[in-house]
Amino acid sequence: MPIPSVPPENPRPAAASSALVVESRVGLRELNTFGLPAVAQHLVRVRSAADVRRLVDDPAWGRAPKFILGGGSNVVFTRDVEPLVVKVEVMGRRLVEATETAWIVEAGAGENWHGFVQWTLEQGWPGLENLALIPGTVGAAPVQNIGAYGVELKDRFESLEAVDLVTGRSVVLDAAACRFGYRDSAFKQHLAGKSLITRVRLRLPRPWWPVLGYLDLERKVAETGITNPDSRTLFDWVCVIRRAKLPDPAMLGNAGSFFKNPVVSAEQCRDIIGRDPEVVHYPLPDGSVKLAAGWLIDACGWKGKTVGGAGVHDRQALVLVNRGGATGGEVVTLARAIQESVYGRFGIRLEPEPVVM
Ligand code: EPU
Repeated sequence: MPIPSVPPENPRPAAASSALVVESRVGLRELNTFGLPAVAQHLVRVRSAADVRRLVDDPAWGRAPKFILGGGSNVVFTRDVEPLVVKVEVMGRRLVEATETAWIVEAGAGENWHGFVQWTLEQGWPGLENLALIPGTVGAAPVQNIGAYGVELKDRFESLEAVDLVTGRSVVLDAAACRFGYRDSAFKQHLAGKSLITRVRLRLPRPWWPVLGYLDLERKVAETGITNPDSRTLFDWVCVIRRAKLPDPAMLGNAGSFFKNPVVSAEQCRDIIGRDPEVVHYPLPDGSVKLAAGWLIDACGWKGKTVGGAGVHDRQALVLVNRGGATGGEVVTLARAIQESVYGRFGIRLEPEPVVM
């Protein structure tokens, strides 16, 4: 598929261009939300598309294998990282355009996602409230097409700017080119390690309407009697719901949901319901059925179990946590044991959500 290219940013005068600074032996514990110990043999910070181009053009590092690191909220480090770690620190956020049908907003890939959501609401541009409190950066949001409470990033996506790590050219990708799927995109598939996202543009539809429909939000409607919440109320509800079941990575290291919710055929689902009538399941438009992985893991008795410093969260079995001093190896051992037991009981293979390095 041809990818339209955009004109490069105004070239900076040679004197102003900063040289490439590659740091050696950088500890990654503070740079991943699981708090796992690992060392990057080499790490470089990029603050603009021009920095990325400089890296691509560099005779020593341009062709080196690279690992792109955002907020470190979707990665499990099991060993020291040999590829060059490229830490994305492109900042800035702005309103690009306000039309009658949408606010188009843009943020640098290094901006904190939740901070960006809060900022758009403060500015009076609602639309991202269901995606509050998701850990990580703006640049990581399209990579796994983050989603929560009935909204996925793809539903608010306009375009993104990325730099091709082979040619150094800036490209603009639309939603079709990003190939969004459930917790998936081209950046986890054929563009993995080949393209670095520098800026993301979102389209927030006008007029705004609340996306309810999700069970936890319907419960809030019933509890409060507010049937038509404004965006701030919805934001507050999402924050309360998430804080009640998902651990704050600043307090207890984790990477959000550790497994994707598996999709099975209607026949397989009927078979499971026959044996376990309470299985939480959601029929999909194509006739297949999505099962709640958290329920499957819970049903196998994993809540609160540990392997070394790694454990299964007490309030949400889908989340693995670092109870203190966990290694990536322990997280992976625990994850494999969970996969085996869920497979043994339900015949379903759970697929991890984070990248295991
Ligand atoms: N459940 C249990 N026991 C558990 C966990 C869940 O019985 O230990 C049941 C719940 O009672 C509920 C069902 O399973 O009926 C689903 O749980 P929940 O509503 O918490 O959502 P989820 O499927 O666990 C997904 C996303 C989350 C997102 C929420 C809300 C995935 C893998 N996870 O979780 O995303 O925030 O829905 O939309 O799709 C993430 O990707 O990191 C993430 C946190």
